[in-house]
Amino acid sequence: MPTYVTTPIYYVNAMPHLGHAYTTIVADVYSRFRRLCGDDVRFQTGTDEHGEKIAEAAAKAGETPRAYVDRIAAAFRATWPHLSILPDHVIRTTDADHIKTVQDILQRVYDQDDIYFSEYSGLYCKGCERFLTEKELVEGRCPDHLVAPKPITEQNYFFRMSNYQEWLIDYIHANPDFITPERYRNEVLSFLSEPLEDLCISRPTSRLTWGIPLPFDPNFVTYVWFDALINYLTGIGYPDDPNFARYWAAAEHVIAKDILKPHAIYWPTMLRAMELEPYQRLHVHGYWNVDATKMSKSLGNVVRPRELVEAYGVDTVRYFVLREMSFGLDASFSSNAILARHNADLANDLGNLFSRSLAMIDKYVGGHVPERESGGVFTPDDRELMSAVSAMVAEYRAYMDEFAFHRALQAVWEAIGLLNRYIVTNAPWELAKHSRQTERLHTVLSFLAEALWKITLVLGPVMPGTAAKMATALGMTGQFASAVIDDAVIWGGIPGGTVIGKSGPLFPRVEKEVEPAAVATAKQLAKEEADSGLGEGLISFDQFKAIDLRVAEIVAAEKVAKSDRLLKLTVKAPEERTIVAGIAQYYRPEALIGQKVIVVANLKPAKLMGIPSQGMVLAAKERLADGTERLVVTTVAESVAAGSQVT
Ligand code: MSP
Repeated sequence: MPTYVTTPIYYVNAMPHLGHAYTTIVADVYSRFRRLCGDDVRFQTGTDEHGEKIAEAAAKAGETPRAYVDRIAAAFRATWPHLSILPDHVIRTTDADHIKTVQDILQRVYDQDDIYFSEYSGLYCKGCERFLTEKELVEGRCPDHLVAPKPITEQNYFFRMSNYQEWLIDYIHANPDFITPERYRNEVLSFLSEPLEDLCISRPTSRLTWGIPLPFDPNFVTYVWFDALINYLTGIGYPDDPNFARYWAAAEHVIAKDILKPHAIYWPTMLRAMELEPYQRLHVHGYWNVDATKMSKSLGNVVRPRELVEAYGVDTVRYFVLREMSFGLDASFSSNAILARHNADLANDLGNLFSRSLAMIDKYVGGHVPERESGGVFTPDDRELMSAVSAMVAEYRAYMDEFAFHRALQAVWEAIGLLNRYIVTNAPWELAKHSRQTERLHTVLSFLAEALWKITLVLGPVMPGTAAKMATALGMTGQFASAVIDDAVIWGGIPGGTVIGKSGPLFPRVEKEVEPAAVATAKQLAKEEADSGLGEGLISFDQFKAIDLRVAEIVAAEKVAKSDRLLKLTVKAPEERTIVAGIAQYYRPEALIGQKVIVVANLKPAKLMGIPSQGMVLAAKERLADGTERLVVTTVAESVAAGSQVT
């Protein structure tokens, strides 16, 4: 099946930062995922190079627009390989074929009388490169650029967008997946509940020359959005190239919320006027902030993707952004958060599981995957492992398909947690001591190898380099290159006898957070603000992040001798530890067994009644009407693997 994945084309008035990197990583991951599902994928990104903003930036840099756009477009293009992003096509709006197509389309829409000439007065925001309606302003300013738009009256050409309003509303209602997540679909519908104005599509050459001339009036250039949106067509050779016929119907655009309106309103109505089908789906994500403040040049806290790659490695960066942002909502970048994900999720959970499993296969069965005993007896543990890993693959697939990347990764990490527990419960090192347990040892190790292979396959789109390393270490290099997701569904994918290689650590631990220089500057500003007394009583996101909250399963509980208040709990989080909790007056010990509670896992150990306590169980304290108090331990609403982080 064809799939066509696009990113916005980025303005060349700024160097690539975390926001651009995120959208492009998402599009790359989704493209790789669809390929893994067997689709024929075309993935396109590019740069938007005309318009006032660019002309101004060039002037500021003391360069001609041409030289300036060449330089910045090259910087964007050079960034992608560092992030393991592999587009099939990188388009520039200054490409000759794009200019020609934009002019052909304008002429056609003009000839059919969907473009007319008129005078217009409106409030123009240079940052947005469009006129804003009164309703869009917040306290008289553009909410994105925080400046008051300028009143402008001029003669211009207009596209009869209003003619297509009713059609668009009906189309969105009839196609619930057209704009996702739903919040953005609702936002667009709400916007469309008011009458739509026609779209101004030109700028007089007296005001701007850096643009595509209107084919029917040389005194005007094309308004940048009419130029930019058409990139999605020219990139696949509209109208005559077979790629256009093949991919257009399968177009999926990925954008952030800032450019929702042009993509959800201008673009479908333009396509309708050209008698083309609308794109398939529009995927809209939120904004990356830095340490909970807006990322901006003027604040000096712009995070550069290449600095992050140098500090943590490309796959950590890709994993981090997908895991940390719920697609659709805003997220906050912090050096602490990426460090924690690197060391906990990647070095610890995944990296240790992998190297430990391979080391056991090496040590106990001579470095090749053992045969699972045919007709062997599987224990409930084995069955749980099989069904959980199969369920993980199904969940992963469904979540990736709906752009819920963080959920897909959560599902994979639950499976990783389960495998770590499977090793502990089945203790291959014990089995290896007794020859009568060889069959069992073989079964356990072959299940491990097989589950790791499945994890390798699903991680491929997100962490291509790491997955390739894992495949090689598992002796599956060839299979990996031609793998499809269905290979992760079948049990028996990694044949007995496969020779396992050696693997160095997949993710060497990073000891100290490496702060991008820009973030350090921004932190200094934040500190100054805090020192000045602003924001008193509040803690920063970093302070909150320093507390390691985990889900812990209570496996044993007993009263502490000579204490009315204390219970000694043994919990798994996921490793076993003892916690002494002051809840004896409120809970019978046996009632707690099996409960999954939330604990502070990185509290300094303390001795209570001579018993070392490694952590603290969180509980809600209720003050009753009679003045007494009641404690209720905090639990999780659904079953969650012990050891899961509470964030
Ligand atoms: N040139 C237009 C888009 C034309 S598409 C036909 C444009 N360019 S832009 O350089 O401003 O890029 C905007 C896009 O960059 C956002 O939609 C998003 O994909 C990405 N991001 C820029 N800053 C971002 C964040 N802070 N957070 C997340 N993504 C952001 O608009």
